[in-house]
Formats: sequence, structure tokens, C-alpha cells
Amino acid sequence: DLMNQIKILEDLFSVDTQKLKFITERFISELEKGLSKDGGNIPMNPTWVLSNPTGRETGSYLALDMGGTNLRVCEIELPEEHGKFDIMQSKYRMPTAIKTSTAEELFDYVADCVKQFLISNNEDQNIKEMSLGFTFSYPCTQDFIDHGVLQRWTKGFDVAGVEGKDVVPLFEEALRRKNVPIKVTALVNDTTGTLIASNYTDQSTKIGCIFGTGCNAAYFENAGSIPKLEHMNLPADMPIAINCEWGAFDNEHYVLPRTVYDAQIDEQSPRPGQQAYEKMIAGYYLGEVLRLVLLDLAQKDSVEIFEHQDLTSLKKAYSLDASFLAEIESDPWENLSETEILFEKKLGIETTEQERKLIRRLAELIGTRAARLSACGIAAIVTKKNLAPCSVGADGSVFNKYPHFRERNAAALKEILGHDEVVVKPAEDGSGVGAALIAALTNQRIKDGI
Ligand code: BG6
Ligand code: GLC
Repeated sequence: DLMNQIKILEDLFSVDTQKLKFITERFISELEKGLSKDGGNIPMNPTWVLSNPTGRETGSYLALDMGGTNLRVCEIELPEEHGKFDIMQSKYRMPTAIKTSTAEELFDYVADCVKQFLISNNEDQNIKEMSLGFTFSYPCTQDFIDHGVLQRWTKGFDVAGVEGKDVVPLFEEALRRKNVPIKVTALVNDTTGTLIASNYTDQSTKIGCIFGTGCNAAYFENAGSIPKLEHMNLPADMPIAINCEWGAFDNEHYVLPRTVYDAQIDEQSPRPGQQAYEKMIAGYYLGEVLRLVLLDLAQKDSVEIFEHQDLTSLKKAYSLDASFLAEIESDPWENLSETEILFEKKLGIETTEQERKLIRRLAELIGTRAARLSACGIAAIVTKKNLAPCSVGADGSVFNKYPHFRERNAAALKEILGHDEVVVKPAEDGSGVGAALIAALTNQRIKDGI
């Protein structure tokens, strides 16, 4: 009976080569649409990062990183030596409650972390003035590099009073309230930071990707290929980094192989209808897909799974995260004893061997679907811009920690492109080094009067 269920799940969650190619084709036209005057699902946000680093950037910079698992504050030293850097950093926990707080509470907390960092790293306790690159990893409309209107929260955030507002003054007001004499030089997305930092050390890097709590990418476009910027009369060959915000791909549900579970995640999220692609592949949602499938099976009379077990914990939304799935996938198939312990400890559910086999296979299916669908976005940019051969710099907990993600992603990319000339590599720290470099490039531009 459970073997039969596994078969059904395999059909539901597998994405074959042909489908990947079909999705990629659609992805290419959606990237185009995002750049057009009318716009589309994918925001394709111009970032006003107008060049790659030269490798000769120097100075000390602060970087603040918000939007992934951790809040980080970093001090980065770019020495004279080409392509090198030193970094000192502190990580702070992002309290769960802050995700649903107010703008003031959120930015006061972040400003406090910056203040703590500066005080503990300055012997004379005097806070020195430095340029700050603020990596704020949510979709923003930017008219300038030190400005960004939050289009919408993603990744489960729902802080009142920020959407539709410029986050830079909101944050700078909090810094003032906390007496921190720092100004934001550049507002950066984690993907843009990743692109710039990876290009700094490897010039063959053409795309920066995040596969973490959320998923997204950035790459350079020519101003002449961005019809929505036509009114600005920019030189046609001027490069400009685009933060795709590709998590929003297929919000109209035209091509992605969504299941009822994906639809459920969407309906129950604070922003239904948004981030259709991200909700199928990003770390924030992977554990929730697993939970919803298992709960559904457990509640079906026709399926004998978790019989006479207390399902209270399994009924709690977002009680399982991507690391739970990752642990199941790392468990050797022989006896799945880790999985047994995980289910007992985390969910209070005792499992049979057959149940553990289903759980393990399901984790594989969810993890594989994520890695394979992730390849479509990369293949779309590579094809649109004719970038092969090239490197892609990638960061994020799913890319760095989820078992087999990289191999599965590489295999899918090869199936779509028909070659393996596009290599996805672990990136340099984009939100530290990348944000510092972007701050340095911005200061240089201000000096040059551009
Ligand atoms: C980190 C970057 O390494 O990865 C962040 O510093 C980025 O800027 C993050 O947002 C993404 O991964 P995750 O898994 O923390 O969302
Ligand atoms: C979400 C955010 C995006 C970010 C990505 C990865 O998709 O909207 O800005 O780059 O997560 O952190």
C-alpha cells in the first residue's frame, strides 16, 4: 500500500528533461517581459550597480546583511592587493516575532545590532564613520543606489509599514534613534552582492545566485536591452546589474508543475499569489512541502500511515525546516535510524520501516524537484544572454548544505543546455565583500561625478 503511495508521489514530484526545457523557454520570455515597459511577473529590478569591480578597490567598509537565516554585520578591509579582502563579522539571531512586527521595531533591532558590533570592535568605544553597504534581500524598486522602495515582503516576512516605502530612510532614522553616525552608501540585494564578489575573484562569473531561505539571481544587462529604462536615455552599451527576483516566475501558474501542496503553501502564506517559483524550491518552504504531504496521507482513510499516532506536532505549520529534510536525505538507506529518531524527537511519531522508506523517498523527491527546477532559471539567463561558457556564483544554505543539491542542479542544467560549460560554484561572501565592493564603486562614482 505504501509502495503504491510512493509511486503516486514519484509521478507528482518528478520533472523530466522535456518539462525542464519547456519551463526554461517560458522563463526566457518572462525575463524579457520583466524588462519591458509593461513589465511582468518577474520584477527584473535595475540595481544601479554599473560595473564589475576592477580588483583595485581599497578601504574599510561596513556591511549589513539582512534577509537570510542570520543578520550579520561585517567590517571589510579591501587592501591594495588585487582581488583580496579581510573580513571581521558578527552574526545575530533574527527573532521570529520580528517578522510580524512593525517597521520601527524591525529597524531598531537591526540598528541595535550594528551599534553593538561597532562598540565591541572599536577599542576607544568611539563609533567611527564608515560607508555602509546594506544588503537587504527583498524586492526593491531602486531609482538610485542608496534608495529602495520595498515592493513586497517575501520569505514569510510580514512587517507592517514597510511595503511601498523607501527602506533606507526607515533604517537611517533607526540609526539616528540609536545614535549611530552611519549612512547607507548602497542598498544591495544578496544576489547582486554575490555576483560582484564572485566576479572580483573569478572574472568568468556572469550570474550570482542564492539558493537559501529564498532563491533568486542577478546578472548584467545592457541598458539598451531594458525597454523600461528607455526614457532615461542611458548609453545602449552601459552595463547595469539586474536583480531578477525570479522567485516570482510563473505567478500566473502557467507552466510550473504545481501540486495541491504547493497551492496550499501559497494560500496559507502572508502573500498568496506571489513567489510561485520560490515557494517550490527555496529552503523556507521545503520542510513545509514534506509536512503537508505527510499530513495529507495521514488524514486519508485509504492510506495506512502513522496509525494511532498523535499528529498534533505534524499539524503545526512550518514545524519542519529544510535542515530536517536535509538530515533525512543524509540518513543511510539501510535502516534509516536517524529518521526514526528525528520523527520521535521532533514530532512525537513512531515510524515503521515502510513509513521511513516513504519519508526518505519523499524527501528525495522534494529535494530533487527543487534542484532541478532551480536549473531552469540559470539556463534561461545563460541562453538569453548567450553566456556559455561561464561560471555562476551561488550562495545560501540550500546550495551549501542540502545533500546532493549541487549534483542534481548540475545534472538538470546539462539536460537543459545539452552541455556542461556552465559551472555553478560556491560564491565569495556576497553580502560582506560584495556589499563592500559596491559601496566602494559607489564612492568612486560619486567622486568621479557620474
Ligand atoms: C548568506 C549571505 O551567505 O546567504 C546572505 O550572506 C544571503 O546575504 C544568504 O541572504 C542566503 O542563504 P540563507 O540560507 O541564509 O537564506
Ligand atoms: C527572496 C527575495 C530576494 C532574495 C532571495 C534570496 O526571493 O525576494 O530579494 O534575493 O529571497 O535571499
